[in-house]
Amino acid sequence: VSLDTEEGLYRPSFHFTPKVGWMNDPNGMFHYNGYYHLYYQHYPDGNKWGPMHWGHAISTDMVSWKEQPIALYPDDKGYIFSGSAVVDLENTSGFGTGGQVPIIAIFTYHNMDIEKAKGIDVESQAIAYSLDEGLTWTKYSGNPVIQNPGIRDFRDPKVSWNEEHEKWVMVLAAQDKVMFYGSKDLKNWELLSDFGADFNKEIGTHGGVWECPDLFPIPVEGTDEVKWVLYVSVNPGGPNGGSATQYFIGDFDGAKFTMDKDFEAALNKGQNHWIDFGKDNYAGVTFSNITSKDGGKFYMGWMSNWEYANEVPTETWRSAMTVAREVKLIKDSQSYRLAFDPVDEIDAYKGVKYKKENIAVEGELELINSEKVNLSRAAINFNIADIKKGGFTFKLGNKKGDELSFGYDSIDHKFFIDRSKSGQIGFSDTFSSKQSIAPRISSSEKLSGTILLDKTSIELFFDEGSTVMTEIFFPNAPFDTLSIETVNQDFILDSIEVNELNI
Ligand code: FRU
Repeated sequence: VSLDTEEGLYRPSFHFTPKVGWMNDPNGMFHYNGYYHLYYQHYPDGNKWGPMHWGHAISTDMVSWKEQPIALYPDDKGYIFSGSAVVDLENTSGFGTGGQVPIIAIFTYHNMDIEKAKGIDVESQAIAYSLDEGLTWTKYSGNPVIQNPGIRDFRDPKVSWNEEHEKWVMVLAAQDKVMFYGSKDLKNWELLSDFGADFNKEIGTHGGVWECPDLFPIPVEGTDEVKWVLYVSVNPGGPNGGSATQYFIGDFDGAKFTMDKDFEAALNKGQNHWIDFGKDNYAGVTFSNITSKDGGKFYMGWMSNWEYANEVPTETWRSAMTVAREVKLIKDSQSYRLAFDPVDEIDAYKGVKYKKENIAVEGELELINSEKVNLSRAAINFNIADIKKGGFTFKLGNKKGDELSFGYDSIDHKFFIDRSKSGQIGFSDTFSSKQSIAPRISSSEKLSGTILLDKTSIELFFDEGSTVMTEIFFPNAPFDTLSIETVNQDFILDSIEVNELNI
């Protein structure tokens, strides 16, 4: 495709986008029989949010996705809002009448008629089943399986099998809290508990409604200790404005989530934990029926922000997903926290490579351009052995004079992304009104990072994924040079490796 077309300039090379129409949250991600499935909030008939369907794509490696026919259509009970899918290996639901392993989707019905009539009971939970491994779906005749209890925002059920208590556990978002439900058969659900608003004391960030929660156990890296992680997306209220996803660490006893004491103490002092500090990673959850070889989870998010998602300058389609990421739980002197890395499967797509070591930087220096490696689809790793000597700014540039800068401020110990000169920015007041920043967690004198560059997105993983930043941008021509700048003397970039990705 020509670079003069929107398709050529803006359609990502290696991030999932729908062929046509609008997309938001990832839904129902699961792994079964060699395939990863991704469903997503989708409006196929328009490029803005509208009557929600579940679109569908499959992959054998979470990297390269093939779009499939639409999985779920809205009906007279409502739009099909976000939710999850589980592989019902023991046929607890009884839907697998011919000996098949049923896949069950658990989603929210959002009823527009009730909404227009200003009713409260707009949202309820429903299920559908697939007897062909996730390709085609039948909605359950007994829907909804959970009626609205009188809470306007009551949605985004994430279900998983609880090994220890031999039951399904659902977490869903209910305005200013999450609610937990349990079931033996995915059809009959009982309320277990809730978390997030205790006698009106708010826990965590409440800049807007809570959405798209996730609950899962995960081993502490390198140990047998297992903790429970609760994700909660919030919109608005993110660390750099608009939509973002916070998380909590603690234990789940089969009925109730309790925060870890140190984690809670830090939270009470105002230390919120965010999956991603960039403006463009929202509503992400983990894949079901698969863990990494170390027992970690796999995760994807929606690479946009409700502040401007409907306005970004693409016409044919709107929005992309993040790359799939491996989630790990780390414990160090500063208690528990999550770390994220792009999945290893990306490495198989690495092509042309450029590597340079021991680069002394004074002022600004061009490191590489697209004649050597295509910077519109690249994975970059860099290492700095002594960051105490000072911070740095990486700059992506093009022949139209656009610039995207990002780096580390060694005085304030903060990472930053600045897209104020990155090309088309005028479609929204909040898109680039200020730099996005992320506090550095590590106090190591070494600083390393992985940078994933696509045509319209950057994903930054600093300090082995301890701090992540994801943002989108819309340059007037492809970014084709990468430079580094520092005001500090004796600055050494110890190594940089740039790999073209052939995805
Ligand atoms: C999050 C969200 C969900 C909802 C869906 C509707 O982005 O608002 O809470 O289910 O989008 O498309």
